[in-house]
Amino acid sequence: MSRASIAPSLGHWDAFYKSGAGTLEPSSFAKFCATAVFPKFHVGFENLKILDLGCGNGRDSEFFAEMGYEVMGIDRSAVAIDGARRNSSGTGPEYTRLDAEDLITSPLGFDVLYMRWFIHSITPMTQDKILDWAVECLPDGGLIAIEARSTSDRRMGQGQSLGENAFVDGHYRRFIRPHDLMYAISDRGFHLEHWAEGCKLAPLYGTGMDRDKFDEDPSLIRCVASLTKRTAGQLAKPDQVKRPPIVRKR
Ligand SMILES: C[S@@+](CC[C@H](N)C(=O)[O-])C[C@H]1O[C@@H](n2cnc3c(N)ncnc32)[C@H](O)[C@@H]1O
Repeated sequence: MSRASIAPSLGHWDAFYKSGAGTLEPSSFAKFCATAVFPKFHVGFENLKILDLGCGNGRDSEFFAEMGYEVMGIDRSAVAIDGARRNSSGTGPEYTRLDAEDLITSPLGFDVLYMRWFIHSITPMTQDKILDWAVECLPDGGLIAIEARSTSDRRMGQGQSLGENAFVDGHYRRFIRPHDLMYAISDRGFHLEHWAEGCKLAPLYGTGMDRDKFDEDPSLIRCVASLTKRTAGQLAKPDQVKRPPIVRKR
């Protein structure tokens, strides 16, 4: 899939953040990570360094920085990054405008690659590139934290089809098949630490950029996985991939 096919989404995110529609409240996933996940893995790291990929207006970057973590937020939307810098309380996230396609070396030497509602915004090729890059750049025991729309989401199938599970409906969304994600990370040497699927994880209520009211309870995947460098690059056979207990929310 070409970059051009998802190009209109850049305009979408610029317009979205320009309208001020995005909330500055930290997400429930950020709160979950900061309270239930990061402290558990903090051991062994001097101060957890978090890369927030597709950080948008910086809502979660700011929260992590306030919690004392060292944070870099990256987004390809200049409007989002300008807004994040403007909204920043000065607690210290560093914001950079960058397309994740152009990530080459680690900008920070980070311990956590945090991607909330990001991987469903990118093509499968970009996702592969980022996960390969994470294996190179994360330390042994480093984490990836992902929240994304799943194929069970009710928006799946709406709009113009762009190939398997990808649609443009105002902007590009690629709905993530749980098993595909599980294999994509397990094959690279990540060990699943937490996995949850379903609704009630991040209900959305508010006013959109067209002043429209929205009320939506998306079906999501939440995944936290740690990297074991020893096994990175060795392909696990599907029957060796142990499915973790799934937390279903209804
Ligand atoms: C659904 S928003 C999520 C924003 C934020 N993480 C949150 O949870 O509120 C997706 C973000 O990913 C950004 N994005 C999409 N593709 C990107 C890419 N290839 N490189 C960097 N950022 C990208 C968009 O500009 C947008 O800000």
